[in-house]
Amino acid sequence: MSSARIIDGKAVAADLRAELAKKVADLKSQHGIQPGLAVVLVGEDPASKVYVRNKGKQTVEVGMHSVEHKLDENTSEADLLALVQQLNNDPAINGILVQLPLPKHINSELILNTIDPDKDVDGFHPTNVGRLAIGERSLVPCTPTGSIILAKSVQPDLTGLDAVVIGRSNIVGKPVAQLLLRENCTVTIAHSRTRNIQSVVKRADLIIAAVGIPEFVRGDWIKPGAIVIDVGINRIEKPDGKTRLVGDVNFDEASIVAGSITPVPGGVGPMTIACLLKNTLEATLMQKGLPSA
Ligand code: GUN
Repeated sequence: MSSARIIDGKAVAADLRAELAKKVADLKSQHGIQPGLAVVLVGEDPASKVYVRNKGKQTVEVGMHSVEHKLDENTSEADLLALVQQLNNDPAINGILVQLPLPKHINSELILNTIDPDKDVDGFHPTNVGRLAIGERSLVPCTPTGSIILAKSVQPDLTGLDAVVIGRSNIVGKPVAQLLLRENCTVTIAHSRTRNIQSVVKRADLIIAAVGIPEFVRGDWIKPGAIVIDVGINRIEKPDGKTRLVGDVNFDEASIVAGSITPVPGGVGPMTIACLLKNTLEATLMQKGLPSA
């Protein structure tokens, strides 16, 4: 039984890619510029390989230039740093993404902080974190951006909503809270040490769940009619020994109470690559001194 509207992340992502393809075509015809995205993958992590393949495919589909650097698991930190610096200096490359996780012998923070902030399409560089915090033009992490676009797909103006973010990571919780502030929400960040978290969540008109705990948010925590954006992707074992993907929200319970909800899979996940391409276009425009498209 489900009374909530199910937010179709695949469809919203496809719309965004179509919009980007048009903007990329306009940029080419009007300015002779083709955005270029470089993705760097070190090692053989299977999930990362799938993700990188999808990125490459979608980059080309929207008309951008796609470059992939696949490096051996044993690549040295110095060699990876040299590659990042080479990409920083390459005028055909407007966006650089170094796929995480990196092998343990490499200092991820050092690598990410070496990426030119203007090419940092992940939005992880401290310069971009600071720009976002003070409301300057900035490259914003992809998953938070996708989460906001999905919330706005059901309620275009989020002004005045009580938004509760569950989770305080640098990749999702903190940046999504900044974006919600920018959308004029009243923002609460709840986390593992929050007291009486159920009652905090219950106040929310908009819930962004990004804790990484399978089905953490229960149906009776949710205010009737609330918008629920589930960022979690957790693989759990079923009684028959097979596995399935679930979010940070108990979907069966929540979808009876919520006004609208993103499924897992098929919600926030598909938005991430589309937002990466959006960032690649934005990075290109910033570098060329052009306004946001
Ligand atoms: N690995 C899984 N998700 C991501 C992401 O958004 N960015 C990077 N760089 N690596 C990832």
